[in-house]
Amino acid sequence: MRIIGTGSAHPSLVVTNKMLENFLDTSDEWIVSRTGIEQRRLISSESLEDLAVESALKAMENAGVVPDDIDFLIVSNVCNDYVTPSLSCVIQGELGIKCPCFDINCACSGFIYALDIAESFLATKDLRNILIVCAEQPGRMVDWKDRAQCVLFGDGAGSVVVTKGDDMKAIRLNTVSKVDPLWQKRAMQPTPFLRKEEHDGPLVMNGQDVFKLAVSSSIDDIEKVLSKANISAEDIDLFVLHQANIRIIDAIRHFSKQDKSKFPVNINKYGNTSSATIPILLDELNREGKLKNGDLLLMSAFGAGFTTGACILRWSK
Ligand code: COA
Repeated sequence: MRIIGTGSAHPSLVVTNKMLENFLDTSDEWIVSRTGIEQRRLISSESLEDLAVESALKAMENAGVVPDDIDFLIVSNVCNDYVTPSLSCVIQGELGIKCPCFDINCACSGFIYALDIAESFLATKDLRNILIVCAEQPGRMVDWKDRAQCVLFGDGAGSVVVTKGDDMKAIRLNTVSKVDPLWQKRAMQPTPFLRKEEHDGPLVMNGQDVFKLAVSSSIDDIEKVLSKANISAEDIDLFVLHQANIRIIDAIRHFSKQDKSKFPVNINKYGNTSSATIPILLDELNREGKLKNGDLLLMSAFGAGFTTGACILRWSK
C-alpha cells in the first residue's frame, strides 16, 4: 500500500492549561513538565461527525481523489454518540461515497490496525483507494474532576487515503488482554431479568501502569519491526509516534539512541487524541513539507486493551 493523501480537523475551542487551573487543583507547570501538553482542543459546538467528515474531505482533496474513487471506508473510533450504526455508516452518507464501511475499536492503536487491514484488503480485493478516518473524542470519556486524567486528552480527527503500492516495509500488531490499567464501561438498557449491577462512569486509568506498559511494549514493537524489515534505527528518517505523553516519547527515543530531531511532536497543541494522534501528526508533517519522497517513517502506538502496533512505511506521495 501507499499513502496518497492526508487530512486532519480540530475542534475550534482551545483549552489551555491555565483554563484548567480555574476548576482543577493543577498548574500549567505540572502539566507541561509531566506530559508536554500546553493546550488541547475540545468539542463544544461541533460534533465528532463534523470533524471526521472535514478531515476525510481534506485527505481526499490532498490525494486528488473524489468520493467515487473510494472503494472502502475504515473508521477508527472508541466512542461516539451512536451505539449503532457505526460512525463509518453515519459519515459515509455525508461524504457522498458509496462503498462498504466499518468501524474498528483498537483504542489509541487504531490507526496502525487500520493500515494493516487496508494493506490486506488492497492485496486481496479489487479495490482502488481506501479511506481511513480516525475520529475520537476522549474529552467525553474522562472525569473532568480527576486531574490525573482529564488534562491528558483532546478531541480531533485525522485521515489518510491509501492505494496499491509497495511502501509498507514491515508491520506488527500485538494485543495482550490487560483491562485493569485503562477501561470504561457504560450501562445498557435494563431488562426485567437482569440480576447483576451495571457500571456507568468515566474512564478509569492507572497512569503509572499505562506509562510502563506503553514504554516496554512500544520498544518491543519497534525492535521487532526494525528486525522484520532488516532496517536499523539509523535508517529511519522520522519516528511518528502516538502522542500520549512527551516523557513516553522521550523514553522510546533514549532507547532508540536517535536524535531528537527525528521525533516530531505536536502533543503540546492537541494532547492525546487517541487513534487520531498519528494521522494528525502525519498530516501536519505532510502539509509543512517535512516529508520527502523515499523517507522511512516508523509509526508506533499503544492503547487500552492493551493493544499496540508499529510499522515502517516509506513515504512516496
Ligand atoms: N496536576 C497536579 N498534580 C497532579 C496532577 C495534575 N494534573 N495529576 C496528578 N497529580 C499529582 C498526583 O495526585 C500525585 O500527588 P501525590 O504525590 O500527592 O499523591 C502526584 O501528582 C504524582 O502523581 P503520579 O501519578 O505519580 O504522576 P506521574 O508522574 O505518574 O504522571 C501521568 C501521571 C498520568 C501524567 C502519567 O502516569 C502518564 O502519562 N501515564 C500514561 C497515561 C496515558 O498515556 N494514558 C493514555 C494511554 S493511550
